Amino acid sequence: MANLHESLRNLLLRTDEELAQQFYKIVIAKHPDIGRFFEGVDMRYQAAILTIGLESVIQYFVSRVEFQKRYLIRMGHKHYKLGIPRELFPKFSAVLIEVVKDFHKDDWTAELEHQWNEALHLGIETMFLGYVDELPGN
Ligand code: HEM
Repeated sequence: MANLHESLRNLLLRTDEELAQQFYKIVIAKHPDIGRFFEGVDMRYQAAILTIGLESVIQYFVSRVEFQKRYLIRMGHKHYKLGIPRELFPKFSAVLIEVVKDFHKDDWTAELEHQWNEALHLGIETMFLGYVDELPGN
C-alpha cells in the first residue's frame, strides 16, 4: 500500500498544481452537471485544496486513523450542504483516475489502478457519512 501513497506524493511533487488544474479542466468540460457547481469558484484555490483532500483520502485508506476519518466526514458534509448529489461522485473519481494515470505515464500498473479505485471508494463512502442534515457534535 506504500505504493499508492508514493504514487500520489511523486505525482504532486513532480507536477505541483498541474495535476489538479488539468483534472478540473477535463471534468468541467466533460460533465456540465459537475461544472455548474464550480461557477464563480477560485479554481487556483480549488486545485490547491483538492491535492490536500486527496492526500487525506489516501492517508485514510493507508492508515485508517480516526482524525482523517473525521476530516473526510466533515468535508463530505460540506459537499452535502453545497447540494452536490451522490451520483456525481463516480464520474468525478473516474476522471480523476484517468488524469492520474496520464500523469503517471509508463509506470502505471493494474495494481495501482485497483488501489486508487479502492482508496477513492473508501474516501467517498466516508464523505457520504457526512451526508446528513446535522452532524453529531454540531
Ligand atoms: C473524492 C471526491 C472529492 C474530494 C476529495 C473533494 C475535495 C474537496 C475539498 C477538500 C474541498 C474544500 C472544502 C473546504 O472548503 O474545506 C472541496 C470543495 C468543493 N467541492 Fe469537492 N471533492 C470531491 C468531490 C466533489 C464532487 C463530486 C463535486 C461535484 C460538483 C465537488 C464540488 C465541490 C465544490 C463546488 C466545492 C466548493 C468550492 C467553493 O465554493 O469554494 N467535489 N472539495
